[in-house]
Amino acid sequence: MSYAFYITMREFIVVGHKARTDGNFNLNDLPGSGGRIDILCRCVNCALFLSHDLRRDVIIYLVLLGEPDIPKIVKFEGENVRYLNPDERSSGSLIKKALERSAIPKWRESTRGVWIRLGGLADLLEEVLTEDKKLFYLQENGGDIRNVFKENVPVNTVFVLGDHTGMTPEEETVIRDLDVKTINIGPISLHADHCIILVNNEIDRTVGTTG
Ligand SMILES: C[S@@+](CC[C@H](N)C(=O)[O-])C[C@H]1O[C@@H](n2cnc3c(N)ncnc32)[C@H](O)[C@@H]1O
Repeated sequence: MSYAFYITMREFIVVGHKARTDGNFNLNDLPGSGGRIDILCRCVNCALFLSHDLRRDVIIYLVLLGEPDIPKIVKFEGENVRYLNPDERSSGSLIKKALERSAIPKWRESTRGVWIRLGGLADLLEEVLTEDKKLFYLQENGGDIRNVFKENVPVNTVFVLGDHTGMTPEEETVIRDLDVKTINIGPISLHADHCIILVNNEIDRTVGTTG
């Protein structure tokens, strides 16, 4: 799998503090039985979907920290994902299938373009952050994204953001210990999925996308 021909690659990391770590949740009750996994489902949608197409230059990682298992990460690759429709049940069902596989510390593909591994935020950042990528932490009191992207958008970007509870102080420490730029996408606190849409749009306006 090679992403080298894309103009840019965008990666999003979303932390779901209560999101279930096994597949034992009901697709008809994603918020309750899934530990607000509905938020992560919407993030998948906003990261990957265009009108009648997918963003092939985007990868989204969901860090699941809820009951009952140790932390797990589910990855959706825009280039390779199949069987994904733009509704919460669809991404919820692919996450559920991934969680029904036994996870190990290495990635295992569950369905086409959807992968699972054991690990938390620090493990993921260590793996994902290669020298050619720039890390951005989305936070309400960061620097204005439009100023940061005014000159140029880095070719390979990684954006990390929280769920409805934000980030814990420990997670903030992990992020801030890295070479990271903290940015905001506007003056008001927004839902995580809406932030992803807006980041995608800011980059589209600057460099376009590979749909
Ligand atoms: C619903 S918000 C979290 C609100 C939570 N009550 C808090 O205090 O952190 C979800 C995530 O979206 C991102 N976010 C929300 N509004 C933002 C903004 N205006 N600029 C940048 N990131 C934002 C942050 O990463 C935040 O953790």
